[in-house]
Amino acid sequence: MKVLIHADPARALDCTAGLLAARLQRQPDAVLGLATGGTMEAVYARLIAAYKRGEVSFGQARSFNLDEYVGVAPDHPASYWHYMREHLLDHVDIAPGAALLPRGDTPNPEAEAATYERAIVEAGDIGLQLLGLGANGHIGFNEPTSSLASLTRVKTLTRSTREANARFFEDPAQVPRLAITMGIGTILRADEVLLLAYGEGKADAARAMIEGPLSAACPASALQLHRKATVVLDAAAASKLALRDYYEEVHPDGRDVPI
Ligand code: GLP
Repeated sequence: MKVLIHADPARALDCTAGLLAARLQRQPDAVLGLATGGTMEAVYARLIAAYKRGEVSFGQARSFNLDEYVGVAPDHPASYWHYMREHLLDHVDIAPGAALLPRGDTPNPEAEAATYERAIVEAGDIGLQLLGLGANGHIGFNEPTSSLASLTRVKTLTRSTREANARFFEDPAQVPRLAITMGIGTILRADEVLLLAYGEGKADAARAMIEGPLSAACPASALQLHRKATVVLDAAAASKLALRDYYEEVHPDGRDVPI
């Protein structure tokens, strides 16, 4: 696992957006795995700016998002479909139909999950998977005790996750109990994984992910099994790492270059 520690969130965001843009420049027809959450909003803002400067194009790319709430239609303001249109898709040149998310408002969420997993396999799996980190160590909506071999399926959200995401809904009681999420096994098949976390609230989860035991109790610890996982942190999220000095020696100022 490559651990890149930056002095502040802005640098961590620049780094993450830069790594994603670099993948697209290297491979314009990349299959991207995209994430939602507050963390990603400023990543997408940076990618839109890079697109407007002519540095990057999504014209040949495809994307699959990690997850969606069950029972929430694409036009619902708190849906991840809506989030993606607002924060990225409506502002770049991605082709119509090239960006996919699970449909939350389907009568059969399990069948939708299986269809979504098949679509990812048929696309040749994800090239670069972008990830945020739940304060409880979740990735996508793979809550603690998710099978480390899981595929796309329906998961029940923990109370803490529902509370953390209540700010996106008009009424906290509206936060769905269920979500369709790529599984940990799905995520691990990606060619490359890029996780961003910043702020003190993520420090415990970051430590468990990077230095804790490989355990379903911290789903993000499954990234320890991935051959090409990059974790980008700010100083606050890195504050509980026992081997922080080592990571900073290997990658001074979070630079992704060999020394
Ligand atoms: C959400 C999403 C995750 C996201 C995480 C962190 O529940 N399903 O993909 O990474 O929680 O969210 P935030 O970035 O708002 O802290």
